[in-house]
Amino acid sequence: MALNYKESKLVKDTLPSLRQHGEHISTVFYKTMLRDHPELHNYFNTVNMHTGKQPRALTSLILAFASNIVNISELTPKLERVAQKHASLNIQHEQYEIVGKYLLRAFSAVLGPAMTPEVKMAWTKAYWVMAKMLTGREAHIYRAFEDWKGWRKFMIYNKKNETVEGNIVSFILKPVDGKPLPLFMPGQYITLRITVPGMKYAQLRQYSLSDAPSHDQYRITVKRDQGSNWDYAKSQEDIRTISSAASSASDSSIGSVQPCRPGVVSNSLIDEFHEGDIIELTHPSGSFFLNTNMDTSMPLVLISAGVCVAPLLSMLNTVVEKRINRPVSWIQASRHDAPFQAHVENMAKRHPNMRTKFFKSRLSDSDVLSYTSTFDNDFLSLTSEDLYLSNSSSEYYICGPEKFMMQASEHLHRHGVRPERVQFEIFSVGSFEMRLED
Ligand SMILES: Cc1cc2nc3c(=O)[nH]c(=O)nc-3n(C[C@H](O)[C@H](O)[C@H](O)COP(=O)(O)OP(=O)(O)OC[C@H]3O[C@@H](n4cnc5c(N)ncnc54)[C@H](O)[C@@H]3O)c2cc1C
Ligand code: HEM
Repeated sequence: MALNYKESKLVKDTLPSLRQHGEHISTVFYKTMLRDHPELHNYFNTVNMHTGKQPRALTSLILAFASNIVNISELTPKLERVAQKHASLNIQHEQYEIVGKYLLRAFSAVLGPAMTPEVKMAWTKAYWVMAKMLTGREAHIYRAFEDWKGWRKFMIYNKKNETVEGNIVSFILKPVDGKPLPLFMPGQYITLRITVPGMKYAQLRQYSLSDAPSHDQYRITVKRDQGSNWDYAKSQEDIRTISSAASSASDSSIGSVQPCRPGVVSNSLIDEFHEGDIIELTHPSGSFFLNTNMDTSMPLVLISAGVCVAPLLSMLNTVVEKRINRPVSWIQASRHDAPFQAHVENMAKRHPNMRTKFFKSRLSDSDVLSYTSTFDNDFLSLTSEDLYLSNSSSEYYICGPEKFMMQASEHLHRHGVRPERVQFEIFSVGSFEMRLED
C-alpha cells in the first residue's frame, strides 16, 4: 500500500514543521504513551528516555523515511538495525497500533490546523508503510528464532574478572532447560532482563556475546558503569536541554534528571548476581556480525575501545577456532589494562596471519566518555599494513565510544577506505551511521 503522489506530497509538506519541533514531538509522544500504557516501561530504557536518545532515534527515522518516500531502499540498513533491536526486545505486532496512535497525536499537536483530515490520512498511511516493513522483517526474524520465543532462563555458571580493577566481568551463561543453544553470528548481542530491587519495572539491556558461538553456553562481558565518569559539563548541558524540552511539554517524569548515578544493570550484575543465579535472555540478534559462511580471503580489521572489545572478540575467536584463513589486524584501545590482551596475543600465535596493536590511552577520568585527541594520535601512528590499506577489499569492524568511532571512520575515509567496507556497532540507542550523516 504505497503512498500515491498526492499523499506523499502532503506528508513531505509537513516535514519542515515536524523537523523543527522534533524534540517536542519526541517528548509529548513518549510522555502520553507511557502515561496511558505504563506497561511499556518494561521495554524502554529509562535513561534513553531521559536523555531523549530513544524518542529522537524513532522520530528521526520516521522523518527520514517520509523524506525518502520514493527511495526507501536507502533506509534498508537502518531499518534492519531497528528490526533486529525490536526482535531482541521481543516487541510484538500489536504494539505498533499503540505507537502509531501516540505518534500521530504528537504530530497533530505540533501541526495544529495544518493537520487536516487529508494530511492525517496520508501520515497514517506513511506510518503503516514503515510499520509493515518493520513488522514484516521482525516476523521473519522471529521465525528464524524457531522454538526460542521470548525470554529464556539462563544460569550464571561462572563469573570472571577480566581486568585487575575488577570493573569488567565476564559471565558464562547456561540455559536452564538444558537444550542446545543456537549458533549466533559473531558480533551479535542478546537482551538481558533482570529486576533490580527498588525499581518498579523490569530492566532490559543488550550485551554482545563475547566468545565464539557454542551449543552449550554463551558468554557476555559487562563493564561497570560508574556514572561519575560522565563529562560533568556536558551532562549539565544535556540536563538543561532535556529540562527545557520537558517543561515546555509540561512533563513531570521525562526530564526530572537525577545527578548521574551509577549504571543500574551493570552494577547489579557485577555486585549482586553470583554463580547459580538465574537471569533471562532473548535469542541472539543484531545486524553487526561477521559472516563466517562466506568463503573469502579478504583481510579483516577489528578495531575496538574499552568493553566494546566484546563483539570483536567473538569474531576473532571464531576466525581462529574455525581456522578461517583471512589476514587479521587487531587494534584495541583501553584506558588501563586492555581486557583479554593476553588471550588475544595467544590467538595471534595460533593464527597464521594476524597482527596486533594495543593502545593505552592517557585520558583522565573526566575525559573517559569522549576519547578525544589521544586516539587521533593513536590512529595516526597506524601503518598502512596495520589497516591493510593496500587491499581495497579489506573489511573493517569498529566498536567503541562515539567519538572514537568518529575518529576511526574519518581516519579510514582519509585513507581512501570506502564507507561500505566499514561496519560500526554502538553500545547505545540509534544507529551510528545515522549520526555520521547528521
Ligand atoms: C548492541 C549493544 C551491545 C552492548 N554490548 C555491551 C557489552 O558487551 N558490554 C557492556 O558492558 N555493555 C554493553 N552494552 C551497553 C549495555 O546495554 C548497557 O547500556 C550498559 O551496561 C549500561 O547499563 P546500566 O544499566 O549499568 O546503566 P544505566 O542505568 O542504563 O545508565 C547508563 C548511564 O546513564 C547515566 N544516567 C543515569 N540517569 C541519567 C539521566 N537521567 N540522564 C543522563 N544520564 C543518566 C548513568 O550515570 C550511566 O552512566 C551494549 C549496548 C548495546 C545497544
Ligand atoms: C514504525 C514504528 C517504529 C519505529 C520507526 C521505531 C524506531 C526505533 C528506533 C530507531 C529505535 C532505536 C534502535 C537502535 O538502537 O538501533 C527503536 C528502539 C526501540 N523501540 Fe522502536 N520503533 C517503532 C515501533 C516500536 C514499537 C511498536 C515498540 C513497542 C513498544 C517499540 C519499542 C522500542 C524499544 C523498547 C526500543 C529500545 C529502546 C532502548 O533501548 O532505549 N518500537 N525503535
